[in-house]
Amino acid sequence: MLNNLPVINTRPPTYAEISDETNLPYLSAVIYEILRCSRTAAAVDRDTTCDTTLLGYPIPKGTRVLMPIGMVQQLESNGSKDVTDGLHSVRSVSSQRGRKTGYWSESDVHLFKPERWLRQDGSFNATAGPWLPFSYGFRGCFGQKLALLQLRLFVAMTQVNVFFDAIPEELNTWESHETVTNHPVQCYVKPVPWDQLN
Ligand code: HEM
Repeated sequence: MLNNLPVINTRPPTYAEISDETNLPYLSAVIYEILRCSRTAAAVDRDTTCDTTLLGYPIPKGTRVLMPIGMVQQLESNGSKDVTDGLHSVRSVSSQRGRKTGYWSESDVHLFKPERWLRQDGSFNATAGPWLPFSYGFRGCFGQKLALLQLRLFVAMTQVNVFFDAIPEELNTWESHETVTNHPVQCYVKPVPWDQLN
C-alpha cells in the first residue's frame, strides 16, 4: 500500500521513500508483526537496588526480576483485560497514568496478521496493542531505530525482487530455542522472482 508515493512499479523505491515511517503503512505493519511474533528477546531482567513493591508484592533488595516481554506482546489479549485492569489500584502512582495501547483480540492474537496494526483508513497504528521487542524505559534497546530502519530496507528491497511464496506446513512451524534471544528451529523461505511467478 503506497501513501502519496509516486508509482514505483517501474523502478526500485528510494531510500527516502522506504525510510520515511509515514509512508508504506503495510510495510510498517509487517515489520511490527514480525517482531511481535518472533519474540527475539524472550525476557529482560532487572536487579532491585533497594527494597521495593511491585504490583502489591514486596520485593527485597538484590532480587532479580524477570519480565517475559515476548509472551506479553504475543499472547496478551482482551481475554486478560480484566486481570490487567484489576491491577490498576496496586500500581505505583507513576504507573497509573493509564494504558497507552489497545488489546489484541483473543481470537487472532496467536496468528501472524499484519492487518492488526492498521486503522480502518489504512494508516499504521503503532499502539494498536502490546509490543515490546525492544523492551522499554531507560535501559530499553539503544539500537531500536537502527534495527527498524534496517528491517524496513531489507523487507522492502527483497520484496521488490522476489515474491515470498507459501512453504509446506511441515517446514512452517513457530518452534524455537529460547536462550538470551529466540532462535527459530526452522527458518525456510521460498522466494520466487516476480517474472517467474505463475
Ligand atoms: C531486531 C533487533 C533488536 C532487538 C529485538 C533488540 C532488543 C533489545 C532488548 C530487548 C534489549 C534489552 C533492553 C532492556 O533490558 O530493557 C536491548 C538492549 C540493547 N540493545 Fe538491542 N535489539 C535489537 C537491535 C539492536 C541494534 C541494531 C543495536 C545497536 C546498533 C542494539 C543495541 C542495544 C544496546 C546498546 C542495548 C543495551 C541498552 C542498555 O542496557 O542501556 N540493539 N536490545
